[in-house]
Amino acid sequence: MYTSLLLQTDNKICTITINRPDKLNALNKTVLDELNGALDEVQHDPGIRSVIITGAGPKAFVAGADISEFKGLNKEQAMAMAKRGQDTFARIENSTKPVVAAVNGFALGGGCELAMSCHFRIASENAKFGQPEVNLGLMPGYGGTQRLVQLIGKGRALELLISANTIDAATALQYGLVNYVVAPGELLNKSRAVLDGINSKAPLAIAGCIKAANTVFDEKTDGYALEIREFGNCFDTEDMKEGVAAFLEKRKANFKGE
Ligand code: COA
Repeated sequence: MYTSLLLQTDNKICTITINRPDKLNALNKTVLDELNGALDEVQHDPGIRSVIITGAGPKAFVAGADISEFKGLNKEQAMAMAKRGQDTFARIENSTKPVVAAVNGFALGGGCELAMSCHFRIASENAKFGQPEVNLGLMPGYGGTQRLVQLIGKGRALELLISANTIDAATALQYGLVNYVVAPGELLNKSRAVLDGINSKAPLAIAGCIKAANTVFDEKTDGYALEIREFGNCFDTEDMKEGVAAFLEKRKANFKGE
């Protein structure tokens, strides 16, 4: 069904692998279209509770938007391309099912932007992050100027954006861009282990946390008011009754997402 993605679901975790290793998994139009299709599948499949996004091969997560598609674009076409990328990544950021980026090598340009749109990031020791667009006479267009500042602060973000420098995994960890750094062979195991823990919690409460945390960067929404509403909504769920009952009965809760 997909030509540039691999999808595999095990134990309620859907792993989406961007599969163009000969082009370092660069994001072309097909990859973006297929990512949207995969996000539809994730959203509608009750058997999926969380997602890992990673890249095929040992070298790259995603080495950027596909530069070969830039040639000959006019301003309007370039803006439409950026809009398409931003809309796709906003879907990831706003997914009510947790999405983790498992960064297995270069995460440059659109690859760094894709990783940053995920709810958090786990990196292998050989990961490299950067926004090298200024090398091409360009700047990020898939949300990189916004999310990099959100995640690592303006000073560090602007240095990366305007110098085109890349940072290694240890520096990304120190900056707070990634949550863990592990050996390359452990990357998917670690990502699955973290998500297994998350998948044992109440899905509707998790969705509320994601929605509320995302409003911090949304000037139009009062995050505190939204938190009150989402907190109240939890009390209408079977999962909240189950969670409280399980605690009082000293047993493990069994959450159904209801
Ligand atoms: N778009 C299109 N193709 C890309 C690409 C991108 N962003 N990044 C890598 N590729 C392709 C290369 O053109 C090459 O294809 P070819 O074998 O058909 O010539 C293949 O992937 C392998 O890349 P190569 O450059 O040979 O690997 P390397 O190990 O020498 O260098 C990088 C790796 C990541 C440093 C280098 O590929 C690079 O700088 N890529 C572009 C990064 C970038 O600027 N991203 C932001 C884009 S807006």
